Amino acid sequence: MKVLDRREHLRQRADYTYKFNAKTGRHGWLRLTPAYSLKVVEELIAGHDQAHRVFDPFCGTGTTALSAAYHGHEAVTTDINPFLVWLAQAKTAHYSPKDVAVTRDACAAALDLVKRRAVDPVPAPPIHNVERWWEPKVIAFLCSLRGAISAATAEPSVQRTLLLVAFCRSMIKLSNAAFNHQSMSFRNDGQLSLDLGVDMADVFAADVRFVLGGAIENPSGMATVMLGDARNSAATVKGPFDLVVTSPPYANRMSYIRELRPYMYWLGFLVNSRDAGELDWTAIGGTWGVATSRLVDWVRGSGRFESDELSQMLDQIASAENKSGAVLANYVARYFDDMWTHFRGLTPVLAPGAEVHYIVGNSTFYSVLVQTELLYSQMLTALGFDAVECRAIRKRNSNKKLVEFDVVGRWNSG
Ligand SMILES: C[S@@+](CC[C@H](N)C(=O)[O-])C[C@H]1O[C@@H](n2cnc3c(N)ncnc32)[C@H](O)[C@@H]1O
Repeated sequence: MKVLDRREHLRQRADYTYKFNAKTGRHGWLRLTPAYSLKVVEELIAGHDQAHRVFDPFCGTGTTALSAAYHGHEAVTTDINPFLVWLAQAKTAHYSPKDVAVTRDACAAALDLVKRRAVDPVPAPPIHNVERWWEPKVIAFLCSLRGAISAATAEPSVQRTLLLVAFCRSMIKLSNAAFNHQSMSFRNDGQLSLDLGVDMADVFAADVRFVLGGAIENPSGMATVMLGDARNSAATVKGPFDLVVTSPPYANRMSYIRELRPYMYWLGFLVNSRDAGELDWTAIGGTWGVATSRLVDWVRGSGRFESDELSQMLDQIASAENKSGAVLANYVARYFDDMWTHFRGLTPVLAPGAEVHYIVGNSTFYSVLVQTELLYSQMLTALGFDAVECRAIRKRNSNKKLVEFDVVGRWNSG
């Protein structure tokens, strides 16, 4: 295994994160933290013209699938989160000029209903501390708008989908959410992201125009987006695939469900916090609500990944002078056992010679460095992949130890 480590020269590159995606057509429809950089993906996909079937087992916002489809490939992708599956389906779909025209009309009809107060507002989403997220005036507008979108469009319909994407954009712009951290938080300067003097209907109309601007740019390739568990890809997708470009969850306790909860509550993908915790427990690396308490009694099963380095990391984390050491060691163990299950389940859907790229960051727990890239390389090597390499891509923040890698391997079925 080759480890290309040029960390001393690495910079924190915003163009290698989701921030780069914000300006680029459909890729910029929603600014979600889980997304990785379109630039990294574009570089990898552009280098593989011969890869006709591209697979991303951890779809997230659909970056790989959309990029592959724009390059004319056939893309297949799965995610365990139904909201992300819905979003990636919307981002990769083909839209006709008529679809765009009827959506524009539906937007006008919905805004007219709001203006005339001729629609029943939906109830405010059951998100904890809803008033922290939106001012009363904003909540009232969003509840009316959400009701008006339902009244003005059929379910399912292209118009409903595209208007809901625009709704998500406006809902976040009009919230107190801030994006100056790795994960979504609240602004601490008491300012809204947007001046409330603005006409909220104008904000939504502009977001609809932005979404429709992306909708007319149809990809030439086809993408299939499915709800599925990456620990058993063969149950959902049919191989063989020539190329895998993906970014799995990192072992850093970031919860995608927590990050995405405003979208998921407004769109009805979540109805209570219990379900949120349950969904997080099914996700690799999930650790929110009930998922954390379950880790306390969790024990490693027979499908564990055996590695001296992993055992050493787990011992060090468990023996840290902190009452959470044992539970965090369980968290890390479960993460790698799940990823091991994923890699073992991946090989049956790969074509001989298929190349895989896993964009992943390392992490630290009580100063113990969790070398995710090293463990992935060990897993790929153990399964018989060739040419396994860890390529350092960028520094993740000011902590010198935190680096993002591309872990690469070539499937050798023989
Ligand atoms: C780092 S994000 C992927 C980001 C994506 N590359 C993008 O640009 O948006 C990891 C994703 O893995 C998904 N995930 C977690 N556990 C999963 C599982 N068991 N099966 C499939 N997807 C899973 C999460 O829901 C999340 O969307």
